[in-house]
Amino acid sequence: MKLGMSKQNNMRNKIVAGNWKMNLGISDSIELVQKIIFDKHKDSQRVIIAPPLTNLYRLGQLLDLNNSKIELAAQNFYFPKAGPFTGEVSAEMLLEIGVNIVIIGHSERRTYFFEDDQVLFRKAQSALAHGLEIIYCIGETLAERKAETHLDKVKSQLDDLMIKIDKKHWASNSIILAYEPVWAIGTGVTASKQQAQEMHYFIRKLLKETIGSKISQNISILYGGSIKSSNALEIFEQPDVDGGLVGGASLDASSFNSIIESARKTDKR
Ligand code: 13P
Repeated sequence: MKLGMSKQNNMRNKIVAGNWKMNLGISDSIELVQKIIFDKHKDSQRVIIAPPLTNLYRLGQLLDLNNSKIELAAQNFYFPKAGPFTGEVSAEMLLEIGVNIVIIGHSERRTYFFEDDQVLFRKAQSALAHGLEIIYCIGETLAERKAETHLDKVKSQLDDLMIKIDKKHWASNSIILAYEPVWAIGTGVTASKQQAQEMHYFIRKLLKETIGSKISQNISILYGGSIKSSNALEIFEQPDVDGGLVGGASLDASSFNSIIESARKTDKR
């Protein structure tokens, strides 16, 4: 066995998620969605898109109408049930419009909106309690990588989630993890396949030690940070990488389709 590789060959399906961030109005969103090529009847992988909040309802209708298997995720929500929280939407509001997945912990939320591990943990807890699936993002800064504290940083971001979240949510695969090194997001600098594999293996090992072997083998861990059509395949081929959370390249249909194709080629089932 090569160092830094999971022992068993996993059966996890590949997931490609497009995080559109604060890009594309309704008509551009519709145009892009119509160009995404994904036929789940042939492929066992999952394709998820996370458009801006204002587009979710309309895109949900469109995907339903076309019987599409592309899934919708929200980029954010707030954990209380309802109340005086100007600008926020709740889990129930997302579920009401057919959105069952939410991204939590993205580095842009951590940096620009000051969401810390405590708030993010509460968001995770609430989303899961409401039956949402979560894509929980973690990752170190460049300074942390240079100081070789990247493994500690990621462990600290995962500690509460691993220890305090009810095991049933892990067991039901309601948690997808996304390793997104901050230095790779939007920079054009992608983690090397070795760096990605090393961190994904480390995360899976933590899951194994903290929650259990079976669950650790079933949890999907996506890589995010400057994924492009030119590098997706080599990253997705890594044994502990289960797909990608794609930013910029998910806004271009041909790039996104090519990334979906790379995921299909490396899908285990
Ligand atoms: P880029 O693919 O643009 O680097 O963004 C990654 C990301 O932040 C996805 O959530």
